[in-house]
Amino acid sequence: MNSYPVVAVTGASAGLGRAIAHAYAKRGAKIGLIARNPEGLAAAQRECEELGGNAIYIPTDVSDASAVEHAASAIEEQLGPIDIWVNDAMVSVFSPVKEMEASDYKRVTDVLYLGFVYGTQAALRRMLPRDRGTIVQIGSALSYRSIPLQSAYCGAKHAINGFTDSLRCELFHDRSNVRLTTVQMPAMNTTQFNWVKNRMPHNTQPVPPIFEPEVAAEVVVAAGMAKNPRREYWVGSPTVNAIVAQRFVPGLLDRYLGKTGYKSQQIANEPRDPDAPNNLYDYVPGAHSARGKFDDRSKRSSAEIFVVLHRQWFAWAAFSLVGTGAMMLGLRSRR
Ligand SMILES: NC(=O)c1ccc[n+]([C@@H]2O[C@H](COP(=O)([O-])OP(=O)(O)OC[C@H]3O[C@@H](n4cnc5c(N)ncnc54)[C@H](OP(=O)(O)O)[C@@H]3O)[C@@H](O)[C@H]2O)c1
Repeated sequence: MNSYPVVAVTGASAGLGRAIAHAYAKRGAKIGLIARNPEGLAAAQRECEELGGNAIYIPTDVSDASAVEHAASAIEEQLGPIDIWVNDAMVSVFSPVKEMEASDYKRVTDVLYLGFVYGTQAALRRMLPRDRGTIVQIGSALSYRSIPLQSAYCGAKHAINGFTDSLRCELFHDRSNVRLTTVQMPAMNTTQFNWVKNRMPHNTQPVPPIFEPEVAAEVVVAAGMAKNPRREYWVGSPTVNAIVAQRFVPGLLDRYLGKTGYKSQQIANEPRDPDAPNNLYDYVPGAHSARGKFDDRSKRSSAEIFVVLHRQWFAWAAFSLVGTGAMMLGLRSRR
């Protein structure tokens, strides 16, 4: 891996994608920023340059396969061969299934699921002939455990897992050195909750506990730059709990989330403004940022994430402790 890698990030104009771009910029990376909103992208580019990176942006709708291919070509022409491709762009709709419109299901699937597929294919077209490179899929606890009111989003996130597993088998079959990893995220304080399409009576919120996106972005950088990234990274204890509980007690969770999931995803004292713009079919103008409006309720660090990032240290510490214990026991029994 190049010590100053070329990184493509979709969804880089705001939210987690913008935090990921910042985190790579701090390592001196060359970054291709992909999203629709030119003002948000230009602001992200400036921030990346200030942080020590070199960035360009290509306004692109990821639901258009040829536009994604064009963005990948532009990045390679201007920055060089892409080392890391991060699929992050998303849209969602907060609504019970019974009130969803068919066109909204199609749009979420086109952007979120197919956007990841097109991004992965654009990366593969370049990485496979070179036999190197890493593709990072941004996942979610909801990629394993669906919740009420977000059926289109949860369906697409599950589909990304399915697509990624198929591709991973094919890479093994072809003995490819192209790496593929998924980072499953917890709830984060991102811009999503300012502009997501919402049919509920109140404004939306991530299900607490909430993490700042910068905390999660560090895991994406570690995954992308690892020589041999793990198959998956589970970020934050809420993600671990949701995925493990889904394996063992899915029926219990269905009932629990049926009871709590409507309330926990809405801000009780904030009625929805019916005229508020949403980002489903077009971007919301403005420069925006990585973070949303939940700063006062968001965690800036996580012990579990620290352990995830430094697993080898902990393994060595445990190994040394066991070794020392065994030695002392041996000495005592000889005496
Ligand atoms: N926030 C959370 O609680 C949470 C939890 C778990 C996982 N995640 C994952 O984190 C990732 C980022 O989510 P987020 O919360 O940061 O979302 P966000 O704040 O809404 O940002 C979404 C990004 O995607 C871009 N985008 C939307 N539609 C697009 C399109 N058609 N073409 C290109 N770009 C498009 C947006 O930019 P433009 O509008 O400029 O196009 C923006 O840059 C997603 O994969 C999501 O599943 C988030």
